[in-house]
Amino acid sequence: MELKGERVLLREFDPQDVGALQVIHSDPRVLRYYDPDVGTLERTRALVALFVEWANDNPRQNFQLAIIDSKTNLLLGSCGVRTKDCPPGKAEFGIGIAQERWGTGVAQDAAQTILRFGFSELGLKEVRAVTVSDNEAVTKFARRMGFTAGPPRQGDAWMTQRGWSAVDWSLTREIWENTISMDGILE
Ligand SMILES: CC(C)(COP(=O)(O)OP(=O)(O)OC[C@H]1O[C@@H](n2cnc3c(N)ncnc32)[C@H](O)[C@@H]1OP(=O)(O)O)[C@@H](O)C(=O)NCCC(=O)NCCS
Repeated sequence: MELKGERVLLREFDPQDVGALQVIHSDPRVLRYYDPDVGTLERTRALVALFVEWANDNPRQNFQLAIIDSKTNLLLGSCGVRTKDCPPGKAEFGIGIAQERWGTGVAQDAAQTILRFGFSELGLKEVRAVTVSDNEAVTKFARRMGFTAGPPRQGDAWMTQRGWSAVDWSLTREIWENTISMDGILE
């Protein structure tokens, strides 16, 4: 499947994306708030294989797509909504983009595109996300998208070891619709 944003195209991952995704993930500024393993070639290979496997599931539950620059065709990152193991009508959301493209609105474009798909096509009622308490960029981003945060809680061991907590975020379809209509995105 393919989804078109204003400046990005979201498409299925391909094993040939491993190299480009690993360059993005191994950047220390991107890796800072991930489990350190995420930066390894081995883990990137496994992740891409998993994304391809999810795409072939029938019925499909998880949609983790490659974010592609529509002009240059370069891989910019990954985003997705994943319903597996979630209660009906709910999904987990995740996004990460190359550091060079932070602060340009590309992440917002990709997120709006996959969230529109989730709420409109999949009929989701709520999307959830988990972030690291110290991650200011993602906190600002999540608030801009209309997510609201719960209280910090103990996260995975690698978060605790660095003195961080996990934060649970939620975005309901109702708030999403209000947020995008305020932004003038909804026609
Ligand atoms: C989280 C993440 C996706 C946020 O990316 P981002 O680039 O800050 O988010 P946006 O696309 O919304 O960019 C908005 C910024 O671009 C600016 N911008 C420039 N042109 C823009 C445009 N055309 N449209 C919208 N915003 C634009 C905005 O003013 C805003 O700037 P500000 O942050 O100074 O207010 C990014 O930091 C990331 O990939 N981090 C690494 C992965 C990660 O940590 N993921 C979360 C795991 S917990």
